[in-house]
Amino acid sequence: MSNRLNSTPNDMRAFWMPFTANRQFKKEPRLFVSAKDMYYKTHDGRTVLDGTAGLWCVNAGHCRPKITEAIQQQAGELDYAPAFQLGHPKAFELANRLVDIAPDGMSHVLYTNSGSESVETALKVALAYHRVKGNGSRFRLIGRERGYHGVNFGGISVGGIVANRKMFGTLLTGVDHMPHTHFPDKNAFTRGVPEHGGDIASELERLVTLHDASTIAAVIVEPVAGSTGVILPPKGYLQKLREICTKHGILLIFDEVITGFGRLGTPFAADYFGVKPDMITMAKGLTNGVIPMGAVFVTDEIHDAFMQGPEHMIEFFHGYTYSGNPIACAAALGTLDTYKEEGLLTRGAEMAAYWEDAIHSLRDCPHVIDIRNIGLIGAIELKPIDGEPTKRAFSAFLKAYEKGLLIRTTGDIIALSPPLIIEKSHIDELFGKLREVLVANA
Ligand SMILES: Cc1ncc(COP(=O)(O)O)c(C=O)c1O
Repeated sequence: MSNRLNSTPNDMRAFWMPFTANRQFKKEPRLFVSAKDMYYKTHDGRTVLDGTAGLWCVNAGHCRPKITEAIQQQAGELDYAPAFQLGHPKAFELANRLVDIAPDGMSHVLYTNSGSESVETALKVALAYHRVKGNGSRFRLIGRERGYHGVNFGGISVGGIVANRKMFGTLLTGVDHMPHTHFPDKNAFTRGVPEHGGDIASELERLVTLHDASTIAAVIVEPVAGSTGVILPPKGYLQKLREICTKHGILLIFDEVITGFGRLGTPFAADYFGVKPDMITMAKGLTNGVIPMGAVFVTDEIHDAFMQGPEHMIEFFHGYTYSGNPIACAAALGTLDTYKEEGLLTRGAEMAAYWEDAIHSLRDCPHVIDIRNIGLIGAIELKPIDGEPTKRAFSAFLKAYEKGLLIRTTGDIIALSPPLIIEKSHIDELFGKLREVLVANA
């Protein structure tokens, strides 16, 4: 949609929009036509503060010069190179640069084009890994209630958001779920990681007892669950999952599509929690959201298990036409340069205390039943309107947009995850506007 329309386009029927109330949207369109740093401009000329880094992805803020220039330059130099049996230098350079900032032990990179594909890739690596190790009976995948791992069949199977699953038949077989870690009765209004509930990790032991470890390939969790409405791991929870997985030879996958690239004030959530997974999925902040790209980190142990047999043979039958696309690699390199120059992978740690105080200052607003935060993530849970779940939060979303603030809602939860370049003045503006919205929404 270009500036030249400067008004609502007259026919919006053709585009069936993703995860959108299409009929509502097309009656009252909300279009962004440009963006810079912390702000969007709308088609009707208004300025909107980005409280969500787009969709949890624009970590360095909008239209950053290094990234834009890298893309422009690459598009004129090498637009595409086949991804299978051929390569180009930037794909290797980027993998090395990623390994440099990765948590210890993450030493190899597979490329994808989205978070969903990163999840599918990691699940397939897990199954194939056990098979090449001679443990083909490990076919089960364990996810968690309320987990979000994208929209492809593997991801919705291990995921635990009912609306994303219920329409789609039998999904993957051999999948089970651990309980979620949301305990509002005990943990409401906790600042940071909650005190209660870490023991629920022992439910994984129960699943191991039920299915037997010899049938379980991997456990996948978001270290901090984002899309379900920001659910934090209680103290000790992730450590305990790691212990159980190690004890039973089960791979632990951290889905860091949201938490990767500085969101918690460390490069990855694995660093924040001091827990080493066997694989990490990522996307979003990898290219600052500018070009679709995802990736999966795996350990030497996993990678090396595949490097056997005749050398002319393909070791892993998986990949995408656009795996390591040159323009995506250039965008990612420009993004990593920007993160490095501006210290953005750790900046969240400096801003987290101010962010925490600001979000918890909304506790007295109408209908607020919980506030949660970690790093530069926050959530405000609202009491649902009787018989009309999601309506209160959606109405807050619309009012915020009118006031020049972008928030995200899921169920009756408002989720916030601003660009990591956010300044205190933006935090004041964000929560000042949000207070007005919540009061007006009473
Ligand atoms: C944890 C997690 N995994 C996977 C995905 C899917 O990513 P994508 O929308 O790029 O496919 C998301 C998206 O929000 C996510 O939050």
